[in-house]
Amino acid sequence: MPSDPVSPRWTHWRETVDLEEYHQRWQRMEQQGTASHGEADFIEGYGAASVLDAGCGMGRVAIELHHRGVAVEGVDLDADLLAYARADMPEVAWHHADLTDMQLGRRFELIATPGNVMIFCRTDHRAPIVATLAGHLEPDGLLVAGFSLERGADALTLVEYDQYCSAAGLALVERFATWERDPYEGGNYAVSVHRLAL
Ligand SMILES: C[S@@+](CC[C@H](N)C(=O)[O-])C[C@H]1O[C@@H](n2cnc3c(N)ncnc32)[C@H](O)[C@@H]1O
Repeated sequence: MPSDPVSPRWTHWRETVDLEEYHQRWQRMEQQGTASHGEADFIEGYGAASVLDAGCGMGRVAIELHHRGVAVEGVDLDADLLAYARADMPEVAWHHADLTDMQLGRRFELIATPGNVMIFCRTDHRAPIVATLAGHLEPDGLLVAGFSLERGADALTLVEYDQYCSAAGLALVERFATWERDPYEGGNYAVSVHRLAL
């Protein structure tokens, strides 16, 4: 029997969160102008001609990038969250696929995993996910990941993440403590930018 591609952490999140209420909360923040778009600002700053929001969920970041004229696509394993993305922005290509082994048939100048995707996936899928993402990058393409550096059984350290990147041919370009580009000085959150080295 094939193993479940969904991590225990994501299963727990889904069991504890009401999707409709969660979606409405984000919509309200957008309408009131209180939604933070730090991730979109950061990603847009690289001027990539094509962007993949990997683990896009309800499309929070990809939809903002689309509003700004960025050519963006989204991919996620969770069909229920993708349904919200599709309903909110039908113009964007939303892919229902597992980052571990997806084959989208095209490459992107920048792939981003905002919103802790790298710690919401299965621990044993992290290395293959980074390899699959690298395989979807254009030459010189950038992989951008933001995730919490917490302790615990399913934590992901920067040393581990950099090793997965290195094994996939990705070299560290820069690292920040926030999406606002504050310098990383060993805190409990990091935004990492790696480039596909050829
Ligand atoms: C906390 S949510 C972040 C969603 C979105 N990036 C955001 O910032 O709003 C984590 C997402 O990672 C997705 N995910 C986890 N493992 C995945 C996998 N193997 N393939 C595709 N998506 C995955 C989940 O389905 C979920 O939508």
